[in-house]
Amino acid sequence: MSTPENRQFKLISRPVGMVQRSNFEFAPAPAGTPGPGEVLVRVQYLSLDPAMRGWMNEGRSYIAPVGIGEVMRSGGIGRVVASNDPSLAVGDTVVGMTGVQDYAVAKAKEMMKVDPRLAPLPRFLGALGMPGLTAYFGLLDIGQPKEGETVLVSAASGAVGAVVGQIAKIKGCRAVGIAGGPDKCRYLTEELGFDAAVDYKSEDVRAALARHCPKGIDIYFDNVGGEILDAALSMLARRARVIICGAISQYNHPEAIQGPRNYLSLLINNALMEGFVVFHYAARYAEGMQALAGWAMAGKLKAREDVVDGLETFPDTLQKLFRGENFGKLVLKVANE
Ligand SMILES: NC(=O)c1ccc[n+]([C@@H]2O[C@H](COP(=O)([O-])OP(=O)(O)OC[C@H]3O[C@@H](n4cnc5c(N)ncnc54)[C@H](OP(=O)(O)O)[C@@H]3O)[C@@H](O)[C@H]2O)c1
Repeated sequence: MSTPENRQFKLISRPVGMVQRSNFEFAPAPAGTPGPGEVLVRVQYLSLDPAMRGWMNEGRSYIAPVGIGEVMRSGGIGRVVASNDPSLAVGDTVVGMTGVQDYAVAKAKEMMKVDPRLAPLPRFLGALGMPGLTAYFGLLDIGQPKEGETVLVSAASGAVGAVVGQIAKIKGCRAVGIAGGPDKCRYLTEELGFDAAVDYKSEDVRAALARHCPKGIDIYFDNVGGEILDAALSMLARRARVIICGAISQYNHPEAIQGPRNYLSLLINNALMEGFVVFHYAARYAEGMQALAGWAMAGKLKAREDVVDGLETFPDTLQKLFRGENFGKLVLKVANE
């Protein structure tokens, strides 16, 4: 096989505030050839995640920062076009860390084979992928929801939040979502089965939470941090669990993160606040995937993806996450299926 043409986004400077196109160089590069134990993957869809903003910052985190001059890190799904490992064959569909490029040379053992007949490919980057697993382990392992409890989730129409609310319903809880705008709120209650939705852009969040969570909040699954975390803390029930999954409202100014002011609510209510990273559950991904796929097949887990066409749009498309312009899991289409 002749070496195909590859295009890559490399990080060339660390963003200050919102990520910009000028933080990257977009240039052709050789696709590379897989060495022993490796495969060459034709990337079809890339997963655009809020965490990518954090990976661009210098400093200690759960994963090393993307180095200056390196291809921007990203999850992706694609087809194996050359294999140098017996575990994967040409034509297999795989999910894993591909980077923001057309072709990725990857270690076969770090790629997960999926059956493309089971769902549209972008879904393996959303409800049936890392965000779905994040919702599954965060809510069930840390939250330990019990029937009749009230579960509140923010960024509720997004990739993680939509799955959190639906699992809460599956477990017999009352699910309340916070989202930006009437369309997203209607989607939560009319299509996903949430019991109530709060439009934080047009409503007084505390007043709305008091209305929709009359017995207090037993579990708050926090995706946004900032003011909304404070509002949720002010409404905790006794023995509540606050799950720190993310804080997207704070990612663009890491030097001045707004921490919770209402943390004494944890003391008053004998409550717990715990953070987590989904990668730490890697040994249990198969369990999570099986549960998520089962619920999807049974019609209990619906999903929606926001697919944008064109690798070249990457930096502008990534910005959509921080402006709330994505509706569903944000995915970049790189090549036809
Ligand atoms: N801990 C982990 O292992 C892990 C894994 C995956 C994701 N996460 C975290 O989970 C959260 C959700 O990720 P996702 O992939 O599901 O993204 P998403 O919810 O699909 O998209 C991000 C959404 O966040 C909301 N948002 C953006 N800026 C906001 C602000 N200033 N205040 C309030 N809401 C804001 C927007 O929705 P609205 O229009 O509703 O505002 C936007 O659509 C992120 O914080 C992410 O970092 C954590």
